[in-house]
Amino acid sequence: MTEIIKLDVGSPNKELIESAARIIKAGGLVAFPTETVYGLGADATDADASKKIYAAKGRPSDNPLIIHIAEPEDAEKYAYTNELYYKLAKAFMPGPLTVILPKKDTIPSSVTGGLDSVAVRCPSHPIARALIRASDTAIAAPSANLSGSPSPTCAEHVIADLSGKVDMIIDGGSCEIGLESTIVKISDNSAILLRPGMITCDALRCVLERLEISHAVTEMLAEGERPQSPGMKYRHYAPRAQLILLDGDSESVIEYMRSAQKNESCAIICYDEDSSLLDEKDLIKIGGRDDLETQASTLFSALRQCDSLSVEKVYAHLPSKEGIGLALYNRMIRAAAHTIKKV
Ligand code: TXA
Ligand code: MG
Repeated sequence: MTEIIKLDVGSPNKELIESAARIIKAGGLVAFPTETVYGLGADATDADASKKIYAAKGRPSDNPLIIHIAEPEDAEKYAYTNELYYKLAKAFMPGPLTVILPKKDTIPSSVTGGLDSVAVRCPSHPIARALIRASDTAIAAPSANLSGSPSPTCAEHVIADLSGKVDMIIDGGSCEIGLESTIVKISDNSAILLRPGMITCDALRCVLERLEISHAVTEMLAEGERPQSPGMKYRHYAPRAQLILLDGDSESVIEYMRSAQKNESCAIICYDEDSSLLDEKDLIKIGGRDDLETQASTLFSALRQCDSLSVEKVYAHLPSKEGIGLALYNRMIRAAAHTIKKV
């Protein structure tokens, strides 16, 4: 049985937070909101508890989990930090940034998929922070979706995927950002971006002298290539229908979408201002063309919505790779299995 509780983001009820924390301490699973997406949490220091996460999600056991802490300094208990970590923490924590560091023995290797590094994140969401504090441990939490599905940005998504498979789901409303955290792997003098997010490369470069971007952020992994992050090799975000990204100027893309609507069984994900030019049947608006924040917070809902439509294809604009666009681009090319059509 899954208990579903509603919490107010502004002032989460202390007793309910305590009851959620008791589940974490007892080795159970609690899904909770963060500012990025919902997470499926368990005690990060308890190997058996974190194994339950993999089972509930159907997640491959070599795909490591992010551990969530209440204060940036708490990383000391679980990882070997360095100066760069504290520079990043000062600029971006609490917030949507995950930093990969060498792990300490307090974190079992089942949490890190056997790797000797651990991903650390200090979320800013008041419910997430209250839960971590009350649990008095780090909380291992991947996104609270079934493996392969789009990440959940509201409690309804979590309920659809995990009801009956976890002990508790905390409904804290919609996630503000809607895309998962930016992930950077650092050493004493190097930093590499493994997953783009709301904290952009430009923002990171204000703090880091050098930032490499993993080629897998925008490109397909080569046959047999060992990814820098295990998550890069797994199918993710894809709707059941085939998603095709259209690459071209705005007029050509709209023209292509209009003709597809006439001739094919398809849904369209479009910018708000283009909706009047298209047939409203199976049309999903994702936000204004230049409003990347709204697009970020709507994308995963839009991809889930496609599954409620009986269509064979879904067409959408290929995002730019600038700023927050890089995060949208990264999620959408994966949802589309890199299917891009020039128009
Ligand atoms: O915003 C977020 O980061 C959300 C919320 C819940 O905090 N969490 C999230 O977790 O997106 P998940 O498990 O869905 O994605 C974590 C990604 C995976 O692609 C995983 O492979 C990578 O981080 N990762 C975790 N630990 C790693 C490590 N030690 N080395 C390389 N990649 C790692
Ligand atoms: Mg995920």
